[in-house]
Amino acid sequence: MEMAKRIWFSLVGQPIFLLVLFSPLIPFVCGRNVQNSPSGLYGFTGISSFRLINRRSLLTCPDPNPYLAINVTSVDPLANEQNVTVTVSGVIIPDKSDWVAMISPSDSDVSSCPVNSIMYQQTGDFSSLPLLCHYPVKAQFLSMDPSYLKCGKKECRTHASNVCVLRTCSGSITFHVVNIRTDIEFVFFTGGFETPCILRRSQPLKFANPKMPLYGHLSSIDSTATSMRLTWVSGDRSPQEVQYGDGKSQKSTVSTFTRGDMCTSDLASPAKDFGWHDPGYIHSAVMTGLQSSQTYSYRYGSESAGWSEKINFHTPTAGGSDKVRIVAFGDMGKAPRDLSVEHFIQPGSIMVIEAIEKEVASGNVDAVFHIGDISYATGFLVEWDYFLHLIHPVASRVSYMTAIGNHERDYVDSGSVYETPDSGGECGIPYETYFPMPSSSKDKPWYSIDMGSIHFTVISTEHDWTQESEQYKWIEKDLASVDRSKTPWVIFTGHRPMYSSQGGGIIPSVDQRFTKAVEPLLMKHKVDLVLFGHVHNYERSCFLYEGECKGMPNKDKSGLDTYDNTNYTAPIHAIIGMAGFSLDAFPIIVGKWSLVRASEFGYFRIQGTKEQLSLEFVSMRTENVEDKFNIIKAKR
Ligand SMILES: [Fe+2]
Repeated sequence: MEMAKRIWFSLVGQPIFLLVLFSPLIPFVCGRNVQNSPSGLYGFTGISSFRLINRRSLLTCPDPNPYLAINVTSVDPLANEQNVTVTVSGVIIPDKSDWVAMISPSDSDVSSCPVNSIMYQQTGDFSSLPLLCHYPVKAQFLSMDPSYLKCGKKECRTHASNVCVLRTCSGSITFHVVNIRTDIEFVFFTGGFETPCILRRSQPLKFANPKMPLYGHLSSIDSTATSMRLTWVSGDRSPQEVQYGDGKSQKSTVSTFTRGDMCTSDLASPAKDFGWHDPGYIHSAVMTGLQSSQTYSYRYGSESAGWSEKINFHTPTAGGSDKVRIVAFGDMGKAPRDLSVEHFIQPGSIMVIEAIEKEVASGNVDAVFHIGDISYATGFLVEWDYFLHLIHPVASRVSYMTAIGNHERDYVDSGSVYETPDSGGECGIPYETYFPMPSSSKDKPWYSIDMGSIHFTVISTEHDWTQESEQYKWIEKDLASVDRSKTPWVIFTGHRPMYSSQGGGIIPSVDQRFTKAVEPLLMKHKVDLVLFGHVHNYERSCFLYEGECKGMPNKDKSGLDTYDNTNYTAPIHAIIGMAGFSLDAFPIIVGKWSLVRASEFGYFRIQGTKEQLSLEFVSMRTENVEDKFNIIKAKR
């Protein structure tokens, strides 16, 4: 039945009345809209149909046959990472709607939660009849076992005169499991994701060491590159330590967040309700007394909780020195390393992080900048652990700097500029706990840092940036304070773009008020390069100001686009949100300012010397550099 709903969106304090017709109802996803129906979601690679699971009523299975069983083959207890094979047996007629969910903790209420149906509106998905009061970590259809549907693995249950009169079938699927501290169980459902009912549940499986220190990741704390922060996760609340260099150590400070810390409006959010998962304890310690551009080793943990492996890491180039090599991208997220579906999957994330891992291993990266939309956990908190596991080979070896995005911060009535439900009620709390950046205080996630010849100004597009705001004043002060003799280059970065050819859905990708408010500061303070994400592709501009090209790059001898900033013209913008989320296409007609476009997964390389910035877009389609340009400046 056709129905109309009215939603108020208060954008930057100016309410916009939005009348949306819902049939079916429409959720908002990062500037796009997706039909909330199985047919609308199937084939949309960024969102699996599994997202519908919490909007299905849990039916009672017809009396299951007595032979049904679910068994788990794994290391007992569970290691920090392994593949767990789950076998269901005793199935009389295998059906393509049979599936298995991994649920944690095992004592979660997964039977029914009809009272909470209204809460699901807070995901931006309008529906009723939630299935699971506690959302599964992941799930797989048994048809992933190619022999299951044709009963390739048989067991004889009843014989008569040496003839088997009742055969049952079995099937096995494999789950990639990492240490999430809380015990897990596997639940055998039939009825698909649309009409599910529970057939059998496994015994709970415990992790051997829920206190194990894991997922250590580095960040810089200042421009000297003589101190590095290490942040890690453990089920242990007692302070631990990082041991590094030749016999140095630092004790950790311990923090965490609780379900009560998750934000909400009149209705509970996913983070506060069915998406909650205990994060354990987040430890952080600053390794001091280092030298820039050096390799050291460390391990972290304690005698009682255990120790991490020994890891080599690289300190960045100090601010004011010459050469620096950075990898940057936005909107990466994570994807499962098995055949599972999860609530939110970013299909390009694994290939991109593995390519960056190779660059880091070759010693060619000083630091990484991930400019918003970090894990896409969006209120389903166990996905932070899987994300931290995914980036660990990179983030444990070089500084992993971040900016906040809409999927970390935005929520209704939470103080975010955009009152969309994009963070699922996280409201930046898990983000700033997992990724402490050199910001001045909580919920003010803007900062700057010098690396080599580049000054990075990192802002939050999700916090107030209007002219009277604290952030605006900070941006102005920060840009004015740059010593260009030390760092001749200024890169300004955040999450939402000022320009994009991709128009977006109901909520546009570009907020003109943001561009109008902040762009004059970039011009005034001669920002060289502006990097944003949020839109999931790669795009680069001319010298751009107020929507118009103020100049064009020249071709150098090898035909490479070269922007000459000796006599400053205007900022150059690049969108680099192509690191994982399903890609955005470009319209046929684009503005004159858009010089290069690529709708491909990949990442961005920045190499700086005092004379030149060399920029490259590395595409995962070709595993090659698909755009390259330079910015030069003659010495004064
Ligand atoms: Fe975004």
